[in-house]
Amino acid sequence: MTKDGLRKPNYYGSLTHAATCRVGNYQGEEVHVPFSSLLPMVHPNDIVVGGWDISSLNLADAMERARVLDFELQKQLVPYMRGTVPLPGIYDPDFIAANQVGRADNLIKGSRAEQVAAVRGHIRDFRAAHSLDSVVVLWTANTERYAEVLEGLNDTAANLLAAVERDEAEIAPSTLYALACVQEGVPFVNGSPQNTFVPGLIELATEAGVLIGGDDFKSGQTKMKSVLVDYLVGAGIKPVSIVSYNHLGNNDGMNLSAPATFRSKEISKSNVVDDMVLSNELLYAPGEHPDHVVVIKYVPYVADSKRALDEYVSEIFMGGRNTIAMHNTCEDSLLAAPIILDLVILAELLTRIRLARDGEELAGLHPVAVLLSYLTKAPLVPQGTPVVNALAKQRAMLENVFRACVGLAPENNMMLEFKA
Ligand SMILES: NC(=O)c1ccc[n+]([C@@H]2O[C@H](COP(=O)([O-])OP(=O)(O)OC[C@H]3O[C@@H](n4cnc5c(N)ncnc54)[C@H](O)[C@@H]3O)[C@@H](O)[C@H]2O)c1
Repeated sequence: MTKDGLRKPNYYGSLTHAATCRVGNYQGEEVHVPFSSLLPMVHPNDIVVGGWDISSLNLADAMERARVLDFELQKQLVPYMRGTVPLPGIYDPDFIAANQVGRADNLIKGSRAEQVAAVRGHIRDFRAAHSLDSVVVLWTANTERYAEVLEGLNDTAANLLAAVERDEAEIAPSTLYALACVQEGVPFVNGSPQNTFVPGLIELATEAGVLIGGDDFKSGQTKMKSVLVDYLVGAGIKPVSIVSYNHLGNNDGMNLSAPATFRSKEISKSNVVDDMVLSNELLYAPGEHPDHVVVIKYVPYVADSKRALDEYVSEIFMGGRNTIAMHNTCEDSLLAAPIILDLVILAELLTRIRLARDGEELAGLHPVAVLLSYLTKAPLVPQGTPVVNALAKQRAMLENVFRACVGLAPENNMMLEFKA
């Protein structure tokens, strides 16, 4: 019960479980089917959830601490969550904000090699304990600072493995978890902005054929930006200034109040308009770019209810200026959770797709999972391949690959059948 009456559970915000896909036209009626019905995919209710946290709080108390769900709902969930305590995590205070130290009471001890071994053991135990068909690991822990990419440290697969054995300091916890996953043959998706996937790790995953995907969930402000700028540039309107301001009061906001972790977020939010700007040489001269500024402030009172304020100024016809100002109350976790489910469900599905040419069986999709980019802010792509940020194109890419898997032609929107 809420103040608005009885509410039923739903998966709103999930592409796979709350969105549909057009499959064609039947006797003049457009036919849409649930995305989840196009291809066999895991239902969220069948996923067993487990994980690590450097904070030992059981999930019932963590739910209360997070201040996201309605009080009545929390009361109903407590009995299911009280008994679940996260596995100890890999903690390195140098990689997240100093203000997180008070939470860090549930840690894997030992050298970095021992920590990787412990995580590998956890994955194996979890798979066996729940008789799982497959495991996907997704990083939804704190944003870390960028790790330095250094020759001899993490620039190649061999150097990264050797650096872990030498217990080198400049290896982020997220990279250690990712390494454990690659070694266990388990997909790893990064929901935060830092460079978990250093070149050595990408090489290892590629060699092993283990799916990796990221970076940084695309839940609110950036999702809007990847629609709006695509529309403006596509319409021949020239954005010249994009200023994005956020304030939030959850633990993510507290962690991002440190300059080094904020910098990771700033980078992942900044490149999102690049491909759209580059696509229109009528508007932008070579090297020209709109001013683009991102600000994030920590305001505890608003808790998880993140505010995103954006101003887009564009040049229009005959020296005119068009200004769009936007206020977006995000409800951060409630936007992110369905995306987390989608990423896990799609990551598992992508491991089952095979490409064939002229009947010859080829390998699976490239381990760097570009098809997840609809759900991520800074899509990880194999070196030398284009990054697409425009949301509609990212969705079309996924939809058309799904369609291809069941023998439907790509959706080209020509609708010539109605124009003869
Ligand atoms: N809408 C969104 O919520 C959204 C959108 C995009 C990206 N993200 C990113 O997702 C991440 C999680 O966001 P959140 O709001 O849930 O943050 P949060 O701080 O509430 O939760 C992160 C959890 O990770 C734990 N943790 C930190 N380091 C760890 C480690 N090394 N191993 C295991 N656990 C560790 C923390 O104790 C904490 O419980 C952040 O990086 C955030 O920037 C969130």
